[in-house]
Amino acid sequence: MNEKELVGVRAAEYIKDRMVVGLGTGSTAYYTIKKLGELVRNGLNIKGIPTSEQTAALAVEHGIKLVDFKDVERIDVAIDGADEFDADLNLIKGGGGALLREKIIANAASAFIVIADSSKGVNKLGDFPLPVEIVTFGAEMTSRKIAELGCEPKLRLSGTQPFITDNGNYILDCDFKQIESLEELEKQLNMIPGVVENGLFVNMARRLITIENGELVEITR
Ligand code: 5RP
Repeated sequence: MNEKELVGVRAAEYIKDRMVVGLGTGSTAYYTIKKLGELVRNGLNIKGIPTSEQTAALAVEHGIKLVDFKDVERIDVAIDGADEFDADLNLIKGGGGALLREKIIANAASAFIVIADSSKGVNKLGDFPLPVEIVTFGAEMTSRKIAELGCEPKLRLSGTQPFITDNGNYILDCDFKQIESLEELEKQLNMIPGVVENGLFVNMARRLITIENGELVEITR
């Protein structure tokens, strides 16, 4: 098993019968979804809430029943990947463009479990360009306002065209290098009209499953 598979499969152990499960997006969450599909075929009864259209299709392919967000009162556990994590389990997410739904679901979950291979650990977040979801109206102006916070936003493309999120928005990838104050930047970004959400997940994860020195480790806070 590769690192992504090891952490993805381990996370599935936290899912019990009758749970409502937030299903993450990306190549690591893929392994959790695949494992959950296997468990469902063996009798596990769960309902999934997907963080993206891509994950919805994957979950259905693996036989996991989905539930509409409006029909649930709680999400028991959300499991998702990350682009970077620090020692306090703060994250940068959104490399796959699903950060808005990922953040809504992580925030709604009683427990948010992050699964990440060893390459994602950093001392300070920011090397990975921070994804910021913005509405298409006035995008150039929104981008200039974000640049004033100390980065050069780059409009994410899909081929030659702007990448469009599941919510019909653009993503700006914002290279802040080293982010000194995560909470402050998160707030400053979200106060700019036109910004929908940003990929900083501060103080949200309670458990991280990763690999250290070739071994599976779990870090809680
Ligand atoms: C998608 C995400 C992913 O969780 C993040 O990009 C990590 O992806 P991967 O597991 O493929 O490395 O935030 O929006």
